Amino acid sequence: MTVARPPEPIPGARLLFSLDPAVSYLNHGAFGAVPVSVQRAQQRLRDEMESNPLRFFTQGLAERIGHTRRHLATFLGADPEGTALVGNATTGVAVVLHSLGLRAGDEVLTTDHGYGAVGFSIERECRRTGAGTRALRVPLSATDEEVVEIVRAGLRPGRTRLLVIDQLTSPTARLFPVAAVVQVARERGVPVLVDAAHVPGMLPVDVGAVGADFWVGNLHKWAFAPRGTAVLVVAPQWRERIEPLVVSWEQGAGFPGNVEWQATQDYTGWLSAPAGLYALRSLGLDRVRAHNAALAAYGQRVVGDALGVAPADLPDPGGPAVAMRIVPLPPGVATTLDTARELRDRIAERLAAEVAVMAWDDRGWLRLGAQVYNSAQEYERLAVRLPPLLARP
Ligand SMILES: Cc1ncc(COP(=O)(O)O)c(C=O)c1O
Repeated sequence: MTVARPPEPIPGARLLFSLDPAVSYLNHGAFGAVPVSVQRAQQRLRDEMESNPLRFFTQGLAERIGHTRRHLATFLGADPEGTALVGNATTGVAVVLHSLGLRAGDEVLTTDHGYGAVGFSIERECRRTGAGTRALRVPLSATDEEVVEIVRAGLRPGRTRLLVIDQLTSPTARLFPVAAVVQVARERGVPVLVDAAHVPGMLPVDVGAVGADFWVGNLHKWAFAPRGTAVLVVAPQWRERIEPLVVSWEQGAGFPGNVEWQATQDYTGWLSAPAGLYALRSLGLDRVRAHNAALAAYGQRVVGDALGVAPADLPDPGGPAVAMRIVPLPPGVATTLDTARELRDRIAERLAAEVAVMAWDDRGWLRLGAQVYNSAQEYERLAVRLPPLLARP
């Protein structure tokens, strides 16, 4: 099969990062990668902090955090008054679960495309409170209308206290029609938490228009922020009920200050996050998005072709800007969490390529991401080397 041409590379983009040139880094979605300019911005702030820690923490830090919050919220179309900076999406989810006041008989509804650690968090909160949890099965090929219908049929008004749905799923790299899902849930009086961990930077988004009760997104994946930078956006009717996980000096300030101020920790990552947006904008947001989505689609096709997967069997993420794509692995390969991790490590060690390997729906899947520092040759090399590796366990 001949595979369509890859997008033109963005000249010099790889040099903006400090990635090991010997490794094909095809998993930006896991932990992001921070441009050197942003690393430098954070280091300058750390130098300032270490020159006089007391002054750094007591003279103007709260204002700087507030400025950063407004900057990031505006970028996402979120209300700055309803946005709290948090360390990561997982923390944002935990704050919401902790604040819900679940009771025995309640349930938290999810889908089978949810993120594993978020699932564990839900399970623990349900165990602690006597509530239950249920995951809706959503076939990979479901259309947006079918997804909305599955959710509509799955809601149990009066009992479902929260629906957790991903905007862009981790194991399947699928966009879910979250605005329509939120509307259906609202009609039935069910609050919705949208897990949008991968959305900031990758996809254009207007959080206000999504209309969820809660929305969490990571800036440290696709928005080039230092790790530990995420937002939790909360609708007005919930803000007074939000309980931070750690009680500290801003407890009396209410949301968002009480969630943001988590005692003594390194806040320089948050303050450097606008430098990540600056780096994205300097490259050109639209150019970056178009490049990454086209390269991910190219990577999916060449690797899929090498594994003998017909183009029609390559899942479509459901949106033109998605910069991650999945490829089914041969039956029986990487079908469990442990064997998926083992294969990921083997690919890293033997093929010098970092990829995500997911076990989902009793199958193993390769998830390939694309970022401005990637080239078509990296996917082509993987396509040549992967089949012999899989043939030789
Ligand atoms: C959908 C989804 N939710 C949550 C997370 C957790 O992100 P973090 O580790 O930054 O909390 C991830 C990470 O990949 C994710 O893909």
